Amino acid sequence: MKLAIIGSGKIVQDFLTITKDLKDTELTAIIGTERSIDVLKQLQAEYKIESVYTDFGDALDKSDFDTVYVAVPNFLHYGFAKKALENGKNVISEKPFTVKYEEFLDLKKIAIEKKLILVEAITNQYLQNYLDLKDKLSQIGDIKLIESNYSQYSSRYDAFEAGKILPVFDPKKGGGALMDLNIYNVHFIVGLLGKPQSVSYLPNIERNIDTSGILLLDYGVSKAVAIGAKDSTSPVGKTILQGNKGSIIVNGPTNEMQSFDIYDKDKNLLEKVDHNLYPHRMYQEFVEFERIVKENDLQTVAQKLQHSEDVMWVVKEVLESSKIKLG
Ligand SMILES: NC(=O)c1ccc[n+]([C@@H]2O[C@H](COP(=O)([O-])OP(=O)(O)OC[C@H]3O[C@@H](n4cnc5c(N)ncnc54)[C@H](OP(=O)(O)O)[C@@H]3O)[C@@H](O)[C@H]2O)c1
Repeated sequence: MKLAIIGSGKIVQDFLTITKDLKDTELTAIIGTERSIDVLKQLQAEYKIESVYTDFGDALDKSDFDTVYVAVPNFLHYGFAKKALENGKNVISEKPFTVKYEEFLDLKKIAIEKKLILVEAITNQYLQNYLDLKDKLSQIGDIKLIESNYSQYSSRYDAFEAGKILPVFDPKKGGGALMDLNIYNVHFIVGLLGKPQSVSYLPNIERNIDTSGILLLDYGVSKAVAIGAKDSTSPVGKTILQGNKGSIIVNGPTNEMQSFDIYDKDKNLLEKVDHNLYPHRMYQEFVEFERIVKENDLQTVAQKLQHSEDVMWVVKEVLESSKIKLG
């Protein structure tokens, strides 16, 4: 995969650390802003990236890449992804896919028309522990309840309280606890149970953005609660799945899923599972993206897009029914 990366922030710098182990990835270009030119050049030198641009149009004209990794603030995903697809490039978009459901549907339509790859970079869907959890889920019988908590006090919350609003807390830029952290819980739950019948969100709102919140997903025969917080935290970052024959406890936040334990209904430990293939949470998803691009596996892309669409539907329902106005 000949990759162009858009963005030079936190996630790009984290992602670049695994690229030495991505054998089918060539770092063809990195695209950012003028104000970050020094960072872009430093990353170019450190990771031997072929070219640096501060204009995506220039990169499209001058560099030869087949895939674009969109890793900019949420409200910019749609525009960059659309331009990339219109120029015949595959797209890997950071989560959340887009801010608005209609934007997601538009990208999907273009990708299908042009037979291009369009996928969301959402770590948990690719982690071995998650794939194994799916296989073993029937051991605990019918799922009655899921409780998932991803809370991480953000250093950017201190800035927010001091009046400096960074994109992750900016409603105009598609920020907030739901879009930033709770979205992992939504992917986790929707990946297991599918699209819910209905959802409702109880947010803590400061300066028009949800700094934390509790999301309820109703599946009729099962119920799930997803908690996401950027304004508070606790040592307990776990997900609990309760079935009529047992339970599963997932250790660690739902973007990493460090391990999980299976219990019978008498609370006896049956199995501990710790099968992630690589310490870095992003590795397995990018190995799969390399394969998808190499084999032009549009069938897998269609499955992944259906999953992302169900997640985006949840986001749409929340935004339509709450006071939070994003974008
Ligand atoms: N941080 C994480 O751990 C994490 C994890 C998973 C996913 N993500 C997702 O990754 C995305 C980026 O998050 P982040 O934490 O990396 O944010 P970040 O640290 O704020 O970085 C955003 C980057 O986008 C660049 N950018 C802004 N506007 C741009 C434009 N018009 N053209 C090109 N580049 C532009 C910024 O450049 P300037 O600094 O010059 O503005 C910066 O390099 C978000 O969608 C987030 O949900 C983040």
